[in-house]
Amino acid sequence: MPFLPAAILLSASFALAQNQQPLYSTYEFNPLQHLAGIAPYFEPADPPRDPAPPQGCQVTRAAYLMRHAAINANDYDYEEYLEPFIQKLANSTVDWSKIPELSFLSTWSPPELEEEERITRTGKLEAAQLGVQISYRYPKLRLPKRVWTSSAERTTVSAQSLIRGLEIEDDQTEMVTISESKKAGANSLTPYSSCPNYSSSAGSKQSSAYVKSYTAPVLSRFRSLAPGFDWTSDDVIGMQEWCGYDTVIRGSSPFCSTKLFRPDEWLQFEYSQDIMYHYNTGYGSPVSGAIGFPWLNATLNTLASPPSNDDQDIYISFTHRELPPTVLVAMGLFNNSELTGTNNPNATMPLDRINYHRSWVSSYILPFLTNVAIEQMNCSASYGYENVTDPTFYRVLVNQSPQTLPGCFDGPLESCSAQGMKDLVRERGKMFGEYSAVCGVDYGNSTDVLSIYGRNLTGMSVGK
Ligand SMILES: *[C@@H]1O[C@H](CO)[C@@H](O)[C@H](O)[C@H]1NC(C)=O
Ligand SMILES: *[C@@H]1O[C@H](CO)[C@@H](O)[C@H](O)[C@H]1NC(C)=O
Ligand SMILES: *[C@@H]1O[C@H](CO)[C@@H](O)[C@H](O)[C@H]1NC(C)=O
Ligand SMILES: *[C@@H]1O[C@H](CO)[C@@H](O)[C@H](O)[C@H]1NC(C)=O
Ligand SMILES: *[C@@H]1O[C@H](CO)[C@@H](O)[C@H](O)[C@H]1NC(C)=O
Ligand SMILES: *[C@@H]1O[C@H](CO)[C@@H](O)[C@H](O)[C@H]1NC(C)=O
Ligand SMILES: *[C@@H]1O[C@H](CO)[C@@H](O)[C@H](O)[C@H]1NC(C)=O
Ligand SMILES: *[C@@H]1O[C@H](CO)[C@@H](O)[C@H](O)[C@H]1NC(C)=O
Ligand SMILES: *[C@@H]1O[C@H](CO)[C@@H](O)[C@H](O)[C@H]1NC(C)=O
Repeated sequence: MPFLPAAILLSASFALAQNQQPLYSTYEFNPLQHLAGIAPYFEPADPPRDPAPPQGCQVTRAAYLMRHAAINANDYDYEEYLEPFIQKLANSTVDWSKIPELSFLSTWSPPELEEEERITRTGKLEAAQLGVQISYRYPKLRLPKRVWTSSAERTTVSAQSLIRGLEIEDDQTEMVTISESKKAGANSLTPYSSCPNYSSSAGSKQSSAYVKSYTAPVLSRFRSLAPGFDWTSDDVIGMQEWCGYDTVIRGSSPFCSTKLFRPDEWLQFEYSQDIMYHYNTGYGSPVSGAIGFPWLNATLNTLASPPSNDDQDIYISFTHRELPPTVLVAMGLFNNSELTGTNNPNATMPLDRINYHRSWVSSYILPFLTNVAIEQMNCSASYGYENVTDPTFYRVLVNQSPQTLPGCFDGPLESCSAQGMKDLVRERGKMFGEYSAVCGVDYGNSTDVLSIYGRNLTGMSVGK
């Protein structure tokens, strides 16, 4: 550091002293941040970039796509893993209290799930909190007049909670409900369910190959601890899933212990889920891009349209876990192959070992309440961009972390110019093909365009 002025040197050595590592090694691990679709909402800082707009840029409009908040349990998880484990536990004659590692099973009882798929109290609170945070992020923008949501109870309840956090007075923001019709073509917030070529079970075959290998040593450990219990890999998945659901229902769970499952075993659970999502709604599915593209296209068209009195500044839409990852594919984000010079997506998710350096980490992409934002910015005061003909730039944030779009980073801090964005969207649209054709739509009245923002739908106010 010979060229640094003395003052900087001084403060650098001060900082060093402050951050000095202890001599003993430390290791911390939080399973809740590795639970894929069951991860409670968190902002993983992936990458750890500053969420504030670049210097000299002001956000002029923003759009958010959000997954619903935490639910008690998803039907599929409940029927396949959670309930069978509870039943086995109830039937078992093992005296758990005698097995230190598993003694919690003698006192643990499952939460009362009055209705499985309902938003938990934690979920409502987190959605409201995100509403408040969004209002803090954009103090100069008008509060939205409308928030859009698909029609399931868990998405509408999440939207209502977020609205309550956003509003200053009651009834300032209406909720517009979009039907989850199986024949809506691309014109809904659930376009995967009207896409016959999308399969909700895609990825389970590949995922179970990996599950089989990672659970084998766990099962062998559990069998030696409790030989009287007929352990299967479904029990391991069930217990790991209980960690997430138990936590969002009751605030904590004994299943999250890193003594029960070691940190690496949580990473293995996460990877098994990442494999599933890769084939289900990620780069391993031939239909992901076409499913996610209409939201991207319609949202950018809306942000770019000239403002009028009736318009709003912030567009928020609620959906389920499937749509955000397809939108990320449509944008080209979290692509394991990016910058590798090759494109063999399935080879980036091997089934016999973890790719630790993958970008596709479902805990970061689709936790409860995950949100993908597109911000439109006026960067006319940004150094180096003062004289551009159009000072409008866009950037994408996933759970608050700014992302760089492959193919468009000509603006301040790798944001994307208005023209660059137009070109990118056109190119990506061509690359994926039209929704109805790619989906093999078998009903007559499909559409390739999402038009929920344009249709002057009337919503309902949500009250307190
Ligand atoms: C539990 O026991 C009941 C009654 O004997 C039986 O019907 C059921 O199949 C058992 N469940 C499991 C998961 O073993
Ligand atoms: C097609 O018709 C069905 C049934 O009437 C309706 O639910 C659906 O919204 C329509 N699709 C489009 C794209 O208008
Ligand atoms: C990846 O695997 C899926 C499932 O087998 C397949 O549909 C898809 O075409 C594969 N992708 C590529 C690029 O080979
Ligand atoms: C992923 O990245 C590779 C390598 O840059 C690229 O060829 C491929 O088109 C990308 N996939 C998508 C869907 O954008
Ligand atoms: C950007 O902001 C500048 C300074 O406030 C303003 O003069 C200009 O009209 C704005 N441009 C756009 C496209 O909003
Ligand atoms: C922008 O234009 C002003 C006035 O013509 C000029 O002084 C300045 O150097 C230009 N800035 C850049 C980054 O080109
Ligand atoms: C979608 O389905 C149609 C008709 O079933 C089929 O011909 C087509 O190959 C499929 N496309 C993709 C990308 O899987
Ligand atoms: C994308 O938006 C353009 C401009 O509104 C529109 O012409 C086109 O049909 C849209 N394409 C899709 C697939 O949504
Ligand atoms: C939407 O409908 C409302 C109430 O009917 C009307 O006041 C408003 O002007 C309409 N807005 C647009 C953009 O058509």
